[in-house]
This record gives sequence, structure tokens and C-alpha cells, in this order.
Amino acid sequence: MKKIKTFVCENCGYESPKWFGRCPVCGQWNTAKEVIKGIGKGSKSPLPSLIYLSKNQIENQIRISSNIDELDRILGGGFVKGQAILLGGEPGIGKSTLALQISDKATEKGLKVLYASGEESIDQIFYRAKRIDVSSEIVITTEQNIDTISEVAKDFDLLIIDSIQTFYTPDLGSIPGSISQIRAVTGKMVKAAKENQTVILLIGHITKSGDIAGPKIVEHMVDTVLYFEGERTTDYRIIRVFKNRFGPSGEIAIFEMTSKGLNAVKNPVFIEDDIPFGNAIACVLEGSKPIIVQVQALVSRSKIPSPRRTAVGIDITRVNAVVAVMSKLLKLPLDMHEIYVKILGGMRITDPGLDLAISSAILSSLLEKELSKIVFIGEVGLDGKIRLPFATNKRIETVVQSGFKEVAAPATPIEHRNLIVHETRRLSDLISIMG
Ligand code: TYD
Ligand code: MG
Repeated sequence: MKKIKTFVCENCGYESPKWFGRCPVCGQWNTAKEVIKGIGKGSKSPLPSLIYLSKNQIENQIRISSNIDELDRILGGGFVKGQAILLGGEPGIGKSTLALQISDKATEKGLKVLYASGEESIDQIFYRAKRIDVSSEIVITTEQNIDTISEVAKDFDLLIIDSIQTFYTPDLGSIPGSISQIRAVTGKMVKAAKENQTVILLIGHITKSGDIAGPKIVEHMVDTVLYFEGERTTDYRIIRVFKNRFGPSGEIAIFEMTSKGLNAVKNPVFIEDDIPFGNAIACVLEGSKPIIVQVQALVSRSKIPSPRRTAVGIDITRVNAVVAVMSKLLKLPLDMHEIYVKILGGMRITDPGLDLAISSAILSSLLEKELSKIVFIGEVGLDGKIRLPFATNKRIETVVQSGFKEVAAPATPIEHRNLIVHETRRLSDLISIMG
């Protein structure tokens, strides 16, 4: 085997045949380490092992319940043996709380769980366990050496690493939290998951500034990526499936942070009792989950030539498109107004079925006319035509079950007694709803 000399940055893993004082990738000084590598020439590599995948095997993929229904649902029916999951989120959002709750619930169900915390002392974990009223005997370690943890992976069904930024392998000289360590820790855990058929849940911090050394750099290495969302000013916490090799992505689960940990919100209705002008209610779907949300808009006269437009919880380009269609087709002077739009409750909505509610809230604020408790369902086309969004029936069912009496939609495929339908086929129909 031929040996070659190369220099590797201890911080980020950058490789160069020449020595460097300052790493051109991460900018750190004196991180170049000499490494001797053997390259494969001359050595005969073994043949790849072949696996024969039968229909039977695929259909009988066993799901392991976490004993938290909402988590099982978004995962596509529970964990899968050997699955590596990344759970990312900002500090303080509730990752460790959820991790401890999963440990408790899964242990209660008979799974062997190890909760490895590199962040907190045993006392801190005990305090949290007391708050959430842990009922089973959880196994905890504060060991931060990932190689030691890998050794015991085979003894557990589920292993939780809190967080990938605080674990390390002595193979590398760099500090925990550096890009090279995060990559190595994740790589070793993914390998341990596959070799031992253990489910591994890796927790990772992300910061608002979009820290490069965050979980983003290991998304491609794991099977499933979950992100915790939500404003810390509200109690709602959303877990969104960003990637899933074992189920659909885009699913969300909604939890509420209480004094005793996170509680699942099964039928989410995020609206206030009183709906003044500038507000509109919508029934949207995030993944397969119907949610009733309130859109708030403020339209106010502006003196500057390009008035401000902001959006919280929705993509601003969607709002801009709706505003452009409204300006042109309803001949409204919106270009002379500042427009602020937000979704109440800290939700982030990607469903285009929200469009009709966005335009209604804007119109309601402009005209200062209340919309009462009408639920708006529809996508707004660039031609001003309102279209039925996917799964309209499911939305209507949710609206009825949640006790609403009026909807505005281009059509309703199913009829319900006691449900008043305001047929809204074009944007101009909104004017008559407002009376
Ligand atoms: P934590 O799980 O420590 O967040 P992370 O691991 O993502 O950094 O939770 C942080 C917040 O949640 C903290 O501000 C306290 C609050 N909290 C509750 O409100 N109720 C509870 O039962 C627990 C355990 C935490
Ligand atoms: Mg934590």
C-alpha cells in the first residue's frame, strides 16, 4: 500500500497536501495536523456483501413505539430499528425536556433507553425529571466520550445523545462542538445505530444566526431530521419533519410547554375569542395535520414611495404575490400602504390554502370591516381565481368539529347541515362577504 502525507485541519477537517498556518476554510490558526494515509493501490479489497431485499421484509418493517402518539405519528408509525434521528432546535426550546419525556415514556413501554447528557449535571437532570414527573426508572450517563457510548449501544433499544455539540472522540484533537467533532460524533453514532440496530436520537443546537457548526452539517448523514419550532414568547412548540427516509416529510406535531413538560395538542385551534377587523381565520394543513389559525394584518397609509411589507410565520413572497393580485384585480391602492401580516401563536405555515385568509385579513384591515368567525379556505391564483386546496373535505370536517358555523371557499365538495358556505370563486367575492 502506498503511503501519502497530508495535513488536516483539526477544527473543520479541511485537507491539504501542503502545510497551512491558517485554515482557508474555517479561518483558525495552527490547526494543521500531519496525517499519514495509506491509499488502496495494491491491496485487494473484499467483495461487497449483497443483501436480498424481499417484498415481505419491506412490508414487515417493525415500528417501535415511543409511547408518545404524536411523535409516533409524525415519524410514520414510530421508530425503525437502527434509525438515526437528528432533533435540532434553538437553546431553551425544549429539546432536553422532550428527550427526558421520551426516555420516560419509552422505558415505561419496556424499551431499554439510555439518556446520555453531555450538557447537564446529574442534579440538573434530576430536577427536570422531578418537574416532568418521571414515572419509570430511566438510565442516564454524563459520559461525553462517544467511543465509550458506542461500546454500550448494543445494550439499548434507544440511545439519546444530548447534544452532538458536547460529545467528542479522542481520535481527533479538536474540541467538542468543532465541525470535525460534530461530524465524527454523528458518523460514529450512525454507524453504531446500523451495527447494533439501536435507534439513536441525536440532539443538536441551532442558533438564530444560523451557526455553521450546527446540525445542518450532518443532516445528510442521518435517516430522519426533526426541527423544533416556535416562538419562545408563546407556549406552543412545533416539531416538523424536515427529512425522513422511513416516512413522509413535512409532518408536524404540536406540543404545549407546561409546568410539567410538553403536552401534545391533538386538535389545534390557535384563535382568540374576539376577532376584530384585520383578522381572518383559516383552516390549513401542515403535513396531514389540520390546524385552525388566525391571520392578522395591519394595513396603514404610508408616506414613503416603497412602503414596508413584513410577514411573520409565512413566506413574504407569498404575501407580496397576494397583495399584487389584490392591487390589480380589486383596484386597491395597496401600493400606498404599509402591510404587516402575521400568524398568531408562533406557527409557521407553508400551506397555500392560507392565501384566501391572508387576502381577507388585508382587506378587512384596509376597509376596517370585521369578518367575525368565518373560516377561509382557498388558494389565490395570479389570475385572481380562488382554487380549492388539497384535502378540502378534511379541512371542512375539522371546521365543523371545531364548532365553526361559517366557511368561505370556492366550493364545498361535502355538505354539512348548519354550515353556512360563502361561495368565494374570485377575489371580488370577498367584498360582498364584508357587506
Ligand atoms: P430545555 O428542554 O432545557 O431546552 P433545550 O434543551 O432545547 O435547550 O427547556 C427549556 C425551557 O423549558 C426552560 O426555559 C424551562 C422550560 N420548562 C418548562 O416550562 N416546563 C418544564 O416542565 C420543563 C422541564 C422546562
Ligand atoms: Mg438541552
